[in-house]
Amino acid sequence: MHVPAIASLDDRGFYFEAGDTGRMNARRPIGIFDSGLGGLTVVRAIRRALPNEDIVYFGDIARLPYGIKSPAQILRCSKDNTEFLMEKRIKALVVACNSSASASLDVLQNCYKIPIIADVIRPAAAEAVRVTENGRIGIMGTQATVRSRLYEKYIKKSGFGKSFRVFSVAAPLLVPLVEAGWLRDQVTRDVIERYTGPLLAQKIDTLILGCTHFPLLKETIRECVGGGTQIIDAAPLLADGLKRSLSRSGLLFSANGRLGKLKVYVSDAPEDFKRIGERFLGERLLGVKKVSWS
Ligand code: DGL
Repeated sequence: MHVPAIASLDDRGFYFEAGDTGRMNARRPIGIFDSGLGGLTVVRAIRRALPNEDIVYFGDIARLPYGIKSPAQILRCSKDNTEFLMEKRIKALVVACNSSASASLDVLQNCYKIPIIADVIRPAAAEAVRVTENGRIGIMGTQATVRSRLYEKYIKKSGFGKSFRVFSVAAPLLVPLVEAGWLRDQVTRDVIERYTGPLLAQKIDTLILGCTHFPLLKETIRECVGGGTQIIDAAPLLADGLKRSLSRSGLLFSANGRLGKLKVYVSDAPEDFKRIGERFLGERLLGVKKVSWS
């Protein structure tokens, strides 16, 4: 597939050579970024749905957490991460971070000529609309995601005129608990109960995990909210959608029996990322490389 040559100038004066995005080819990798480990939940789902594809992942550990930063700062980080992945000649970009998507989705789509840009917010919003029976949807995310009200926007868009009540709670304390690997601890359970209590009081029947760190807590969250609440994790939905998009645009790479390569880059603490990341991903992380921003 040939993507028209472009040369775009961003606000830092970073200049993309047309050749970087000019020739697309199914063998190119999929680029995925998150502020830290949480995006590995998306990597895991994409590895399942698209086992042949090569993946380049970037975790911006040095600037984690994003969720408490201003939209302008998160946008800056998202653009840096996208430009880093574009240097790896990706064919598709996955914004595996709700905070990033909430602050940068429009800009990334308008600034960068990448054939496919997928994110975690749109598939989760559409699924919540599909499964809710009482129209009362809860969202647990970071402050940045909750403040952006992007979920509300996409729930409205996916709902075709039907009305929904959306209740959101910012749950920033869960991010460091996940980064520490405290997935089943009592302290984590207490924090989850504190955050989900007000949502359950509003009689939600559907809860969106609006932060890519939270699917790692899914079992604990399930125990806290009980069986009557549908829990939405965007990762498998995004992976299915990405597969369809790649296929439609002729960029799906299939090679029977080949397990795609996974390259991981972080902006700090590669050893910790490797140790905890392997637990989350359920596979060995061979060589997590640290990159330094100049
Ligand atoms: N994984 C990020 C998200 O989905 C949250 C972590 C952070 O605050 O950086 O929003």
